[in-house]
Amino acid sequence: MEKKISLSGIKPTGTPHLGNYLGLIKPGLELAKSYQALYFIADYHGLTTVRDGKEFERMTYDVAAVWLALGMNPADVTFFRQSDVPELFELTWILSCFSPKGLLNRAHAYKASVDANLRAERDPDDGVNMGLFTYPVLMAADILLYGSHIVPVGEDQRQHIEITRDIAEAFNNNYGKILVIPEAFIQPSVATVPGIDGRKMSKSYDNVIPIFAPANQVRKRVMSVVTDSRLPEEPKNPDECNVFNIYRHFASPEEVQAMRQKYARGGFGYGEVKQELFEVLERTFGEARSQYDAVSKDRVYLEKMLLEGAERARSMGAPLMRKVRKAVGVRSNR
Ligand code: ADP
Ligand code: TRP
Repeated sequence: MEKKISLSGIKPTGTPHLGNYLGLIKPGLELAKSYQALYFIADYHGLTTVRDGKEFERMTYDVAAVWLALGMNPADVTFFRQSDVPELFELTWILSCFSPKGLLNRAHAYKASVDANLRAERDPDDGVNMGLFTYPVLMAADILLYGSHIVPVGEDQRQHIEITRDIAEAFNNNYGKILVIPEAFIQPSVATVPGIDGRKMSKSYDNVIPIFAPANQVRKRVMSVVTDSRLPEEPKNPDECNVFNIYRHFASPEEVQAMRQKYARGGFGYGEVKQELFEVLERTFGEARSQYDAVSKDRVYLEKMLLEGAERARSMGAPLMRKVRKAVGVRSNR
């Protein structure tokens, strides 16, 4: 039986961080064992915000190097750059003709910009580009082009996948069952990993712990995780502590248990648990960092891998595009 398809994307808008690792990369690589996996660098989504072309290109290679260093095997995973798949734009246009504007008005990134403008008494669409507004349609095309069944993401992407399902259903209602309706794959325990300020860890806020920064920089970030002002002798609540809420994903179950007891007892300062967090992170990523350092310098290899991935992705998307063109009644003899 044909394997089902797992697909996901990550924007090259900064260096990948622990939230990306737990919400996407780790589950994505796990799913690649039983699904046919397509993972890609969503550069055209990143272009809604990034304006420095050279840096954007560098970040694209950086994201590819991170996946490789974390154990992705390009023979098992079709790994590619979104902008290398021209069919995506054709599908994006077709889908945009099935995307109610009102649905996109409610998409969270656009709505957040409008709300911020209204609070500041500016024009509601001040600073909003059409890329940001139609972002969910491009994402729907990413997912639907390959007939994806499952999409591993963090909680912040749930709404985008619901929008994708709505658009696909609107299309199928008119033309029959052509598009596969995808499911989000969101593990509750890692749905929203906190950043050093306690908000969702995100490349868009300056609050990340990078996966592969040099050890001294990782340590500095870990030491700046925000904690409450309980004194060392006081008992503390691990579930409300950002340090623990990152630590628990990387330590063994025994270590997590021991840490919980330590919080309940008190008698330690936050500096001490931060050091323990730093140590488990080093244990988890220290070795892979040297692979990352080596592979991130090898642009020739990275480019070759991305182009091969894109070729595979394009050939996987081609049959669906033929069906879609035929169904809507545009030229289909390609
Ligand atoms: P960022 O929010 O840092 O810009 P992306 O938007 O490129 O990252 O997200 C790539 C993937 O990583 C998405 O599936 C997203 O849901 C997931 N992700 C990002 N931040 C977190 C987080 N703090 N916790 C869990 N998953 C996350
Ligand atoms: N919007 C996603 C994010 O910000 C990235 C993305 C683009 C994506 N296309 C996708 C994720 C398709 C899953 C499937 O994280």
